[in-house]
Amino acid sequence: MNATVLLLPGDGIGPEVVAAAEQVLRAVAARFNHNFTFQSALIGGSALRKGLPPLPDDTLDAARTASAVLLGAVGDPEFDKGDSSRRPEAALLGIRRELQLYANLRPARVWPGLEAAGPLKPEVLAGTDMLVVRELTGGLYYGEPRGIAPDGRSAVNTMSYTRPEIERIARRAFDAARTRRKRVTSVDKANVLEVSRLWRAVVTDVANDYPDVTLDHMLVDACAMKLALAPASFDVILTENLFGDILSDEAGAIVGSLGLLPSASLGAGTSLFEPVHGSAPDIAGKDIANPIGAIASAAMLLRHALSLNDEASTVERAIARTLSAGRGTRDVFPANPVGTREMAASIAAGI
Ligand code: IPM
Ligand code: MN
Repeated sequence: MNATVLLLPGDGIGPEVVAAAEQVLRAVAARFNHNFTFQSALIGGSALRKGLPPLPDDTLDAARTASAVLLGAVGDPEFDKGDSSRRPEAALLGIRRELQLYANLRPARVWPGLEAAGPLKPEVLAGTDMLVVRELTGGLYYGEPRGIAPDGRSAVNTMSYTRPEIERIARRAFDAARTRRKRVTSVDKANVLEVSRLWRAVVTDVANDYPDVTLDHMLVDACAMKLALAPASFDVILTENLFGDILSDEAGAIVGSLGLLPSASLGAGTSLFEPVHGSAPDIAGKDIANPIGAIASAAMLLRHALSLNDEASTVERAIARTLSAGRGTRDVFPANPVGTREMAASIAAGI
């Protein structure tokens, strides 16, 4: 297959982990006789540093025409004081909006060999394998009105969702559940928020089209607790933008490290794949970042953007083999860690 992958390394540890994922994709191309072309473009702080906006037009144009986008991370403390539109994060919100990437899939599972890497007892963690389906282009992140009052004495953000927005993300969650254990937990705050009451009603309607999938509803505070107490009880978690942001970091900690979590952001056009972890400027450039989030995102790219299921599974098996051989970065194996580059080489060699 011919495919063009746009790499957006971005900030902090982004370039290191994207290089690791690229190495693995090149190994996949060689082994399975594909012709992958890699392009790269600026985003976030790396664009701001060159005097460009955080999401340059060229980057967006390249994203629209690529087969898929693989992003590292955006976020740079140097630009934290800028107004919202000049922050690196604005690029991420912009590309999600422009490509209409409303469905964010964040799988979190225990990898073999990492049963004891996280804070939970191995017997509590055993069997954990969940998928957070986060709505990504609505809610508080995008709602209007928003802003800080000119006198600086108040500020506002708006949580709003329409029926069609809820319906389309719910369908993604139910479709995903059909390929898994057929359970959807819809997470909201319906005891307080009207938006959540609409969310609950629409998700309940959509469930009628999926009689083979079991739906339950959970309040977000209770869900945060249950994730820590009984993570293996979840299959698909369906939730709005901000709740999904928070719960997916928690899911990362539970399975051993946020550095392990991949994501796919899907919409109508080009899909985008990125590790969940962010730019982690404190550890950038030290060859200690965990590349698995990015490499597993590359596996999701193969599966969701290119329909290369065998290739995707091959990447996931190579990750599993490396980890079960006791090789991992210091966030998962602090006693005896290997570096980012060595991890990437080991996983690429396993393809
Ligand atoms: C994520 C990140 C982003 C988000 C930030 C960097 C804007 O935390 O992808 O989870 O909040 O969506
Ligand atoms: Mn986040």
